[in-house]
Amino acid sequence: MNASLSQAVPDLVARAEERAGRLGFGMSCEAPVGRLLSVLAAAVPAGGRILELGTGAGIGTAWLAAGLTGRDDVTLTTVELDPALVAAFHDAPWPSWTEILEGDATALLPGLGRFDLIFADAVAGKWTDLDLTLNALAPGGVLIVDDMDLSRYTDPEHHAAVQRVEDTLATDPRLLAVRIPAGTHLTVATRRR
Ligand SMILES: C[S@@+](CC[C@H](N)C(=O)[O-])C[C@H]1O[C@@H](n2cnc3c(N)ncnc32)[C@H](O)[C@@H]1O
Repeated sequence: MNASLSQAVPDLVARAEERAGRLGFGMSCEAPVGRLLSVLAAAVPAGGRILELGTGAGIGTAWLAAGLTGRDDVTLTTVELDPALVAAFHDAPWPSWTEILEGDATALLPGLGRFDLIFADAVAGKWTDLDLTLNALAPGGVLIVDDMDLSRYTDPEHHAAVQRVEDTLATDPRLLAVRIPAGTHLTVATRRR
């Protein structure tokens, strides 16, 4: 996450940032996380599938899509519970291989199949029902979980939930995981082949 590697903000991201401002949505991923999402999306092989849990204002979706610029051989699915955010997502044009599903990630995950890259960024599929997300990760697939800095959580229940996620990602034998202690702290995990 070297600042000297920063490039211009892609148009899709600028549009999503404008949307977030208009909606007053303040839970979007930060630019360094977004740039990592772009880099990882670009590594997804032809025929691959990407999933984001929690669309928000579409900033993470936009970074993922920006990593696929010039390609049409990967699909990007994003899941959002809030109908107002789903409607706002449809305000702007997205690449044809991008789809948004409205609904609860916990209910939808078992029917979505497997993915090569998952950005788990909603309560469901992250702080709760992480196992559903892990089941949806293809062998060799990569999972990104943001907001892993335990020191940010003063509420004991939330703290315990984050600790549980950290423990699962560190000890699940299907995974190889690393925590990146930058920003709000990220954990990146690969599902072993
Ligand atoms: C942190 S925000 C997502 C930010 C977005 N991924 C980004 O990078 O800009 C979390 C989102 O998850 C949504 N959400 C909360 N519970 C959910 C659930 N059970 N299923 C799907 N989405 C959910 C919220 O409405 C919110 O928009």
